[in-house]
Amino acid sequence: MVPFLSMVEKTMAENALDMSLDGEVGLAVREAGVALGARVEGVDLARDGDDDTIAELRELLLAHHLLVLPEQRLSALELERFGRRWGDLLTHPATRHRETDFVQWIGGKERMFKFFPGVHPFGGGWHSDMTWHATPPIITGLHAQRLPKSGGDTAFANQHLAYDTLDEETRARIGTLNAFHTGKVFGPEVEDSVHPVVRTHEESGRKALYVNGNFTKHIIGMPPDESEALLYRLFSHATRPEFVYRHHWQLHDLVLWDNRSVMHYAIADYEEPRIMHRIVVQGGVPR
Ligand code: SIN
Repeated sequence: MVPFLSMVEKTMAENALDMSLDGEVGLAVREAGVALGARVEGVDLARDGDDDTIAELRELLLAHHLLVLPEQRLSALELERFGRRWGDLLTHPATRHRETDFVQWIGGKERMFKFFPGVHPFGGGWHSDMTWHATPPIITGLHAQRLPKSGGDTAFANQHLAYDTLDEETRARIGTLNAFHTGKVFGPEVEDSVHPVVRTHEESGRKALYVNGNFTKHIIGMPPDESEALLYRLFSHATRPEFVYRHHWQLHDLVLWDNRSVMHYAIADYEEPRIMHRIVVQGGVPR
């Protein structure tokens, strides 16, 4: 068995970045977090959305799983346009911007608490986006519009690292399992889906844990007690602090992440309004 600490160290080394000028386009890239994330400066997406820039951002996202792009002054429609450079966009059944169905407007206390009443607001609770969908989003972009004076960070957990640090017996046990994910929190008409517990990233070939406390309800074909115990164990392991980067938002930050590699949690520790615009890029069927 590979010791836990050496796996963590390996990932830290993979993610470690000195300030560097990346590729042809000359983006300034440095580490955002130890477990995942890179901060990318020197790009203005309202102007620099050319193919070379998008290609470099794609490479960086694949390597670091999350990108922080500060100071992006994009309207909702510009954000949508940027999102379409990455693939088809999905709409969300519960939240949309007044100007376009393809940007989600995330904010407002009452609306935020409608879906998981008494538990956490929309975006809270550890999850990967919309896993109840048959072809859930591979990439999410979240753009800060209005922020509280303090609080309102988002935490992100590296799910490759979560998978790699499981003991061999557990990896063998979960390798062929599937789990049921429900979207019914957003309405009776919203779909449910079944996805593998371990997802293989189509581009990197790396495996990641792909279950979450918000939408994953049970393991297919397993007695309820056993399924509950296993999911509880996986949820707890998946969000160990060693796997987490916590993003403290600045106005106009755009954060992109790969939902195949990362879970996230919007931390509900603020009073003043917090408003985000979000786009989600459709993926294929998880395998
Ligand atoms: C989300 O779940 O995509 C929203 C996260 C956030 O508001 O920080």
